[in-house]
Amino acid sequence: MGNKGSKGTVLITGATGDIGRAIATRFAGGGWNIICHYFSSKERAVALKSIIEKYKVNCALFRANLLSERQLSVFISRLKKINIDSLINNAGTCVGHKHFDRLTVRDITSTFMVNTFAPTLLAAAVFKRMKARRFGRVVNISSIAAKYGSSSHSIHYGTSKLALEGLTKTLAREGAKHNVLVNTIRPGVINTKFHKKFPKDMKKRVKLIPLRKIGTPADIADMAYCLGSEKNNFITNEIITISGGE
Ligand SMILES: NC(=O)c1ccc[n+]([C@@H]2O[C@H](COP(=O)([O-])OP(=O)(O)OC[C@H]3O[C@@H](n4cnc5c(N)ncnc54)[C@H](OP(=O)(O)O)[C@@H]3O)[C@@H](O)[C@H]2O)c1
Repeated sequence: MGNKGSKGTVLITGATGDIGRAIATRFAGGGWNIICHYFSSKERAVALKSIIEKYKVNCALFRANLLSERQLSVFISRLKKINIDSLINNAGTCVGHKHFDRLTVRDITSTFMVNTFAPTLLAAAVFKRMKARRFGRVVNISSIAAKYGSSSHSIHYGTSKLALEGLTKTLAREGAKHNVLVNTIRPGVINTKFHKKFPKDMKKRVKLIPLRKIGTPADIADMAYCLGSEKNNFITNEIITISGGE
């Protein structure tokens, strides 16, 4: 990733998702080199790389299924050789969208694997070099579900995000003395394909939002850039909710 004019290198997990893509292009626009992690959406990853390169920054694509312990550990060993200045733990899913009385151990552990365990291990992997270089930014993408609890069909999703917020607190405390700033963003309802995978009655849902509208990926990307780039100098251990007032 040797682009001398760049502001640093950011790793964005789930960069092929709608929010991940918006975050990646936001950082590229700010002059950062980008490592885009993806899993199944190879075409979207390749298309994103060519968009990012138009900003005259470097872009690398790393593929890993975060459900697979083996793939996660290969991914981490590749990262250990790179100076990552900013990590955006954005990949997320809900495995087994069903009433909690039908959930299996596998549904719960799989959801935690992507939403909590992988971010924890990825943060640990990049933290050491961040501390040594006295600069690091980590942003964990949680969910409004961590604030209010999820629906009865996604309790493991909300719980996994709440656990991710716990990671933020410990890392922020640990990072503070080394200029490694760690924060959480809690998106409310954002217009992405996530909701096509886990459909709900959107009209009813929007009525619960004080601003009476859903957010855009750019709403999250702007905050991720603010917290996860050189722009952030004094904010750490915060949870920023972006949810139209919910
Ligand atoms: N949309 C919302 O309203 C909303 C609200 C609250 C929180 N969030 C959180 O925001 C983040 C981004 O959501 P989004 O709406 O942009 O979702 P999305 O469009 O569905 O994207 C999800 C991303 O996660 C990756 N991913 C899923 N399963 C994976 C696995 N097993 N291994 C590796 N990567 C995996 C996907 O990669 P591939 O496509 O390459 O497989 C994709 O890049 C998530 O953490 C989500 O929980 C979203």
